[in-house]
Amino acid sequence: AVVALPSQRLAGRHVIVTSGPTHEPIDPVRYIANRSSGAQGTAIAAALRDLGAKVSFVTGPAEVPPPAGVDVIRVQTAVEMRHAVETALPADAAVMAAAVADWHVTNAQDHKIKKDAGGMAPSLQFAENPDILAWIGHLAQKRPALVVGFAAETDDVIAHATAKRLRKAADWIVANDVSPATGIMGGTENAVTLITEDGAESWPRMRKEQVAAQLAERIADALDHLPED
Ligand code: CTP
Ligand code: CA
Repeated sequence: AVVALPSQRLAGRHVIVTSGPTHEPIDPVRYIANRSSGAQGTAIAAALRDLGAKVSFVTGPAEVPPPAGVDVIRVQTAVEMRHAVETALPADAAVMAAAVADWHVTNAQDHKIKKDAGGMAPSLQFAENPDILAWIGHLAQKRPALVVGFAAETDDVIAHATAKRLRKAADWIVANDVSPATGIMGGTENAVTLITEDGAESWPRMRKEQVAAQLAERIADALDHLPED
C-alpha cells in the first residue's frame, strides 16, 4: 500500500523560536514581566516541527508547556534569552514571539526586600533590555535569511507594526490587536495581520494553532525561494 507521508517541507531547516515572557528579578521572590501565556509561540514551534524543521525553542517561564520534539532552551531574563538565541545560531529563520520585558531592574537585591515599617515603598531603577529582534535583524553575519517579529498593539496596529518592521530590520511582522475588548490576550484565538515589504495582509480570526500552521507554511514558501546555505 502507498502511505502518504506528512509533508516535510522544512526538513533540513533550522528555525529559532522565542516564546513566553521574560522575568526580570527585583529580589529573589519578585520580578517584573509582560503578560504572555506562551501559547502562540508554542503553537508556532509545534507547526514548524510538524513541517520537519529542527526547532530551537528559547522560552521564558510560560504558562503552557513546550511542545515535544523541539530543542527546549529555558531562560528567565531578556539578557539570557538574547544569549541563548546567539548560541543557537546559525539558523535559516528566526521567529521572535516572546513578550520580552523592556526593562530590567538595575538595583535588584540578592536578599528579599522587607516592607519598611515606616511604610516607605522601595524605589526601583530600570535600564533598557537588549532588543533581541532588532539585534538579530541587524546582524551582519549569521543573520537568518528570514526574520519574523511580532507586534502586539492596542492602538494604530498597522502603523506601529510597520514602523517596528523597519526599525528592527525584520522581514515580516505578525501584528495583532490585543485591546481588552478583543479577548485575544490569554485566549485560544488570534486575529493577525502579516506585514511584509509588500504591505499588510489581514488573516481571519482563528485558533492560535491555525495561525501557527499558516505561518509555518508561509515560512516554508519563503525558504523555498532561498538557497539551503
Ligand atoms: N522584542 C525582542 N526583544 C525586546 C523587545 C521586543 O526581541 N527586548 C521583540 C518581540 O519578541 C517582538 C517584537 O520585538 O517580536 C516587538 O515587540 P514589542 O514589545 O511589540 O516592541 P517594542 O520595540 O518593545 O515596543 P513597545 O514600546 O511597543 O513595547
Ligand atoms: Ca516591548
